[in-house]
Amino acid sequence: MAAKGKQILCVGLVCLDIINVIDTFPVEDTDTRCISQKWQRGGNASNSCTVLSLLGASCGFMGSLAPGRISDFIYDDLRRYGIAVTNVIVHAESSFPASIIINNISNGSRTILHTNRNLPNVTPEDFRKVDLTQYKWIHWEGRNASEQVAMIQQVVQYNANVSAEQRITISVEIEKAREELYQLFGHGDVVFVSKDVARHFGFNSASEAVKGFYSRVKPGAHLICAWAEEGADAMGPDGFFHSNAFPPKKLVDTLGAGDTFNAAVIFALDNGKSIQEALTFGCQIAGKKCGFQGYDGIV
Ligand code: ADP
Ligand code: FRU
Repeated sequence: MAAKGKQILCVGLVCLDIINVIDTFPVEDTDTRCISQKWQRGGNASNSCTVLSLLGASCGFMGSLAPGRISDFIYDDLRRYGIAVTNVIVHAESSFPASIIINNISNGSRTILHTNRNLPNVTPEDFRKVDLTQYKWIHWEGRNASEQVAMIQQVVQYNANVSAEQRITISVEIEKAREELYQLFGHGDVVFVSKDVARHFGFNSASEAVKGFYSRVKPGAHLICAWAEEGADAMGPDGFFHSNAFPPKKLVDTLGAGDTFNAAVIFALDNGKSIQEALTFGCQIAGKKCGFQGYDGIV
């Protein structure tokens, strides 16, 4: 259950998304006029914070930033959503990660071209400065997994020395098919694995994925896999669960659907909902999000 006054912290990427909206996907080496073009704050952990905040959760973002005009835009936007920036780390010598997004509003697809030249990830040393008493839930977007395991161990140690109500719930996201990330399976109370990773392992559905990966999670953990228009499935000590998707009338923008889903599931579980209720809520909110651009219309 939600511990009063404490926040949810999401650790991971914030980047600049330069969103180009079109209704016909461009042909290579042609000159296309977009319907619109805009800057949006992006990055999985940062997007999940946006959604948590819109849902009414008190939350904070922890990640690295490079100073400059993009950073000013990002800070303003984080503040606009009431997302705490206490644990943001500034790296003076780095450049800001950015994505060029092509969003096709005819089918909602999002094509991402991402670049991250030299912005360091959050380290266990950075994480040591976090005042853990402020948090009830910490979510890691899988990136520098070995170091993230060291951060999680700091939380496990903290949890061992506080009362049950003060313990921090740990969730992790394994989104990219990268060997290093798979060690995270064993370290979350809640583990999100993507359909990309599932497919990489030869699973053809969310149910195959949660069943196939389940032996990798720690005892008592819940493993969750979202699968676009197929909805999402989960496995836990209490069994297997499924929610259908809730498709919007028209698919407009699927950018960040997974980040939205993760945030909505975390929000629901943190509010004492069952895993079935949380899956359904995750699919409802993520489905709704796919019906419009950005995140602002989810509530
Ligand atoms: P991502 O590719 O962003 O990681 P997913 O495709 O796994 O995310 O989708 C996450 C959730 O978003 C799904 O479980 C579903 O609820 C919703 N969703 C995504 N795409 C669609 C779609 N085409 N129709 C309905 N719901 C969708
Ligand atoms: C969406 C997203 C975008 C970002 C990209 C980084 O899930 O976080 O906001 O540009 O993925 O891979």
